[in-house]
Amino acid sequence: MARSAKAARSEAPADWLWQAIRDEAAREAQAEPVLASFLHATVLNHATLEEALSFHLAGKLGSENLPGMLMRDVIDEALHKNPEIGRAVRADIQAVSERDPACPGYLATLLYYKGFHALECHRVAHWVWGQGRRSLARHLQNRISELFAVDIHPAAQLGSGIFIDHGTGVVIGETAVVEDNVSMLHGVTLGGTGKEHGDRHPKVRSEVLIGAGASILGNVEVGCRARVAAGSVVVRNVPAGCTVAGVPAATIGHCDEARPARDMKAGIDPDPGI
Ligand SMILES: CC(C)(COP(=O)(O)OP(=O)(O)OC[C@H]1O[C@@H](n2cnc3c(N)ncnc32)[C@H](O)[C@@H]1OP(=O)(O)O)[C@@H](O)C(=O)NCCC(=O)NCCS
Repeated sequence: MARSAKAARSEAPADWLWQAIRDEAAREAQAEPVLASFLHATVLNHATLEEALSFHLAGKLGSENLPGMLMRDVIDEALHKNPEIGRAVRADIQAVSERDPACPGYLATLLYYKGFHALECHRVAHWVWGQGRRSLARHLQNRISELFAVDIHPAAQLGSGIFIDHGTGVVIGETAVVEDNVSMLHGVTLGGTGKEHGDRHPKVRSEVLIGAGASILGNVEVGCRARVAAGSVVVRNVPAGCTVAGVPAATIGHCDEARPARDMKAGIDPDPGI
């Protein structure tokens, strides 16, 4: 006999991350009355993380001529038809909360981190692009860029567990690939050299850390667990586990960390608030 949908739901593993976000929101609503109605509208009134996220992002993406309600339909459709996005969202929230010493918890990531907002809007734009709805994907790219100062081509492929700290000034080109668990700071460019056509953007392998203002140019590979120092210009392949710095970037060492992008031991000042 087929089990009822209700029985199946009650046996499903609890969404612990969503529950943690709700608990944080309930505590904050009580502690700060000014934010209570905002926290209800953005978190506590929703049944799932997907619902809350689509509400929050749609409110940002909407504009005078294209209301948030329509944007919400697009986001809901992407989240519903590609559950991979929901899984990536959860990994991204954990990535920010675990790697940013200034991040107080999962709720703050969901509500306030614009690198995270840009990344999740990109995931929707990427899905839309894959459906052949190119003009809508470009509209989304433009809104993301206007809102968050993060310009990611909708065709760019980004893995899960990505942390884009601060966001401002990040530019990622059409044929770029960023694998799982990469961390990047503000002002990072994954761009073309201007001399190549077709597949012309960097391939950043898993667990890589890219410092603020670094430019990685051309169809070069940054190997797993490599670190790119702040302000570097990388125009050649970076071997796995290497640390490179300078213009043009040269090897300055090897990374002892097994997971530099996750551990974020990168000369980043752990002083909260920066
Ligand atoms: C690349 C990085 C991870 C290296 O960390 P590390 O392994 O601890 O390296 P060290 O600090 O010991 O420096 C090693 C050498 O590289 C040099 N170096 C470090 N970062 C450099 C940079 N961004 N550009 C040029 N040289 C750099 C150091 O001066 C030092 O040179 P020396 O041996 O001649 O004295 C780190 O410097 C970095 O750039 N992190 C990113 C931080 C960031 O983006 N912060 C923004 C916060 S908002």
